[in-house]
Amino acid sequence: MSRSGQENAVTTNAGGRASEFIMTDQDFRFFADLIGKRAGIVITEVKKPLVYGRLVRRVRALKLSGFREYCELLARGDDTECEQFTNALTTNLTSFFREPRHFEFLRETLLPKLMKQSPNRKRLRIWSAGCSTGEEPYSLAMTVAEVVPSDWDVKILATDLDSQVIARASAGVYASERTENISQGLLKRWFQRGGGERADMMRVRQELRDMITFLPLNLLEPWPLRGQFDIIFCRNVVIYFDKPTQRVLFNRFAEQLRSDGHLFVGHSETLYKVSDRFTLLGNTIYGRAT
Ligand SMILES: C[S@@+](CC[C@H](N)C(=O)[O-])C[C@H]1O[C@@H](n2cnc3c(N)ncnc32)[C@H](O)[C@@H]1O
Repeated sequence: MSRSGQENAVTTNAGGRASEFIMTDQDFRFFADLIGKRAGIVITEVKKPLVYGRLVRRVRALKLSGFREYCELLARGDDTECEQFTNALTTNLTSFFREPRHFEFLRETLLPKLMKQSPNRKRLRIWSAGCSTGEEPYSLAMTVAEVVPSDWDVKILATDLDSQVIARASAGVYASERTENISQGLLKRWFQRGGGERADMMRVRQELRDMITFLPLNLLEPWPLRGQFDIIFCRNVVIYFDKPTQRVLFNRFAEQLRSDGHLFVGHSETLYKVSDRFTLLGNTIYGRAT
């Protein structure tokens, strides 16, 4: 059977369901290498069904004969398609006030401490690195607005590699079920109804939106950032990176943090044996050490 004939054959994928196209090991390795190079994301063989499910949509949308033709298109370095490919393979799971103890620590311990420590500074810089669809930076903004007086100069930077999630984050419109983790008081203060395709969509009020700058940024590339941050949130991002990539990234975060700055990582992430630039202050909360 010819290669293209084989690609069009109806067969079964690793999940045992009938699939329209065959993803050969060679195709899979090409995709895994490319996402590793572009985003640092490590994809092993067990993820083949997931890769199939995410990329088959691109093969269909582009009306290609199969995955081989998709590999060829990506190998030619088509910028738009390489971006779509990367967007398709990122995992964007997030929620408002995810890992609530981080926000409790900010509200009850860290922000009051910063205000007491340098009452005249009145300046706060926070970075949500790998912010996905925006729930994390909006949760940060609501927490800060609750505690920090309005005459403080507060700026939150929210970045992600995935251009589609950054556009959604910047729009700040959420299905009402996604806002269920937000207390009634905060919801009333910071959201208004409407703004999306469904009548029950909730839109972030402009005042909260104005606290945040959203930017597409690949953490593996140079960071066009001015100044250091008081707080960096990089949660549930490095879980997809290998240890050498994590080591480089955390050392760069240390450089980008003020000497008394704090780093928050995801619930399953640790800097143990990865970076000695931080001191563990509490579960997944670190202070800069050197
Ligand atoms: C699972 S989400 C985490 C969102 C949020 N931080 C949270 O904890 O809820 C991971 C995000 O990291 C982003 N990401 C993955 N690799 C990245 C890279 N190399 N540079 C920047 N962002 C990246 C993905 O696009 C995705 O939106």
